[in-house]
Amino acid sequence: MQSAKRIEQEARAKAGNVSDEELALIRKAEETHRLSEAELTQLLGSDAAEEALAAAADRVRHRYVGDGVHLRGLIEFSSICRQNCMYCGLRRDNKKAERYRLDADTIVELARKAKGYGYPTVVLQSGEDLFFDTDRLCAVIRRIKAFDLAITLSIGERSREEYAAFREAGADRYLLRIETTDEPLYERMDPGMSWSNRDRCLRDLRELGYEVGTGTLVGLPGQTIPMIARDILYYQKMDADMIGVGPFIPNPDTPIGGEPGGDFHLTRRLVSLLRLLLPEANIPATTAMETMVAMGREIVLSSGANVVMPNVTEGDYRRKYALYPGKICVADTPADCRHCMGGRIAAMGRFVAEDKGFRHHRGAAERNIEEGARA
Ligand code: SAM
Ligand code: SF4
Ligand code: FES
Repeated sequence: MQSAKRIEQEARAKAGNVSDEELALIRKAEETHRLSEAELTQLLGSDAAEEALAAAADRVRHRYVGDGVHLRGLIEFSSICRQNCMYCGLRRDNKKAERYRLDADTIVELARKAKGYGYPTVVLQSGEDLFFDTDRLCAVIRRIKAFDLAITLSIGERSREEYAAFREAGADRYLLRIETTDEPLYERMDPGMSWSNRDRCLRDLRELGYEVGTGTLVGLPGQTIPMIARDILYYQKMDADMIGVGPFIPNPDTPIGGEPGGDFHLTRRLVSLLRLLLPEANIPATTAMETMVAMGREIVLSSGANVVMPNVTEGDYRRKYALYPGKICVADTPADCRHCMGGRIAAMGRFVAEDKGFRHHRGAAERNIEEGARA
C-alpha cells in the first residue's frame, strides 16, 4: 500500500507540466459539463492534469452537492454467488472462498444497528445468491423499512419482475456496475453473462423508479483509456444517479490474479471527470481506493466524491466477503468504522450529512429555469 503523502507529492510534481490546452478543457468541463470522447481520453491519460482536474471537481462538488458526506452502511449478507466473474474472489469456481449466508433476522438486526450508528441508508450487498428469492428478500426489505432507512440493493442481475417486487417492498436504490461498456471485454471478464442483459437491468431499474447506481472496474486486462471515456459518456447518457468506480485488485484465487491491478491515479482522474460531467451524481470514495493507498478515501473525497460506504457487517464475515486481498477494516467493528469515518470527514472540514442522501436535482431545476428564461 502506498502512502497518501507520496501520492500527493507525485501528482504535484507532475502538475507543473499541465498544458494550456488541458487547462482549457478542464475549464470547459467545469462550465459546460460536456466533453467529447477524444477530450475525455486526453484528460484521463494525463498525469499532469490530475491536480487541476481534482481541484475543478472539488469546486463543482461543493457547488452542486455541498460539503456533506453521505454515509451508507454496507451489509454484506451473502458470499454465495452463481456467477463466475474472472476478477472476483466470490466467483463460483473459487473453491478457496469461505461461503456464508446471513439469515433474515441477522440482516434485519444489522440494519437496526446501522440506524443506531446514525446511518440513514443501508446497502444490502451479496453475490448472486438465488436463495434470496423475491419472497425472502421482500420480507427483509419490509422489515428494514420499518426503521425508516433508505435501502440500496446490490445483488446483481434479476428479472424485471423481481426488481419490480423489491421496489414495491420498499427498495429505493440499486447498485449494479456495468464494469465496462466495451461489450467484448465485458463478456470475456464475465463468462456466461451478456452485456446487453446488464444494460437491460439498468434500464429496467430506471423505469421502475429506482435511483440507479453503476460504475467502472478500472484496470481490467485489455481495457483501454478510450473505453473508459466511453463509460463516462454512457453514464451521462443514462443520467446515472450514483457512479462508483474502483481499481481492479488482482485476487490470486481467480484466473486473472496474476495480471497487474488498476491504477490509483487513473481512477482518481476518472472520479474527477465524473463529477465534472455529472455534477449532481452521488459519487462514492470506494473501499478499493483505500485498499491501494492509505487515506485513499480522503484523496478521492477531495477529488469530486461525496459518499462513503462504511462496513456494518460484523465479525469474521467481513474477512470472508473476500473480493480481493488486503481489504480494509476486516478486523474492525462497525462502531470503529463509524467513529473513524466521522473523525476523518470532520478533519477534512466536511461534515456527515444527516439526510438520506437522495440525488440532488438542484442543478437540473436551475438549468430548466435558465432554459425557460431563454425561450
Ligand atoms: N454480485 C453483485 C454484482 O456483481 O453486481 C454485487 C457484489 S460485487 C462483489 C460488487 C462489485 O465488486 C462488482 O461490481 C465489482 O466491480 C467489484 N469487484 C469484484 N472483484 C473485484 C476486484 N478483484 N477488485 C476490485 N473490485 C472488485
Ligand atoms: Fe458474483 Fe458479483 Fe463477484 Fe461477479 S462480481 S462473481 S456477480 S459477487
Ligand atoms: Fe473502518 Fe476506518 S473505516 S476503521
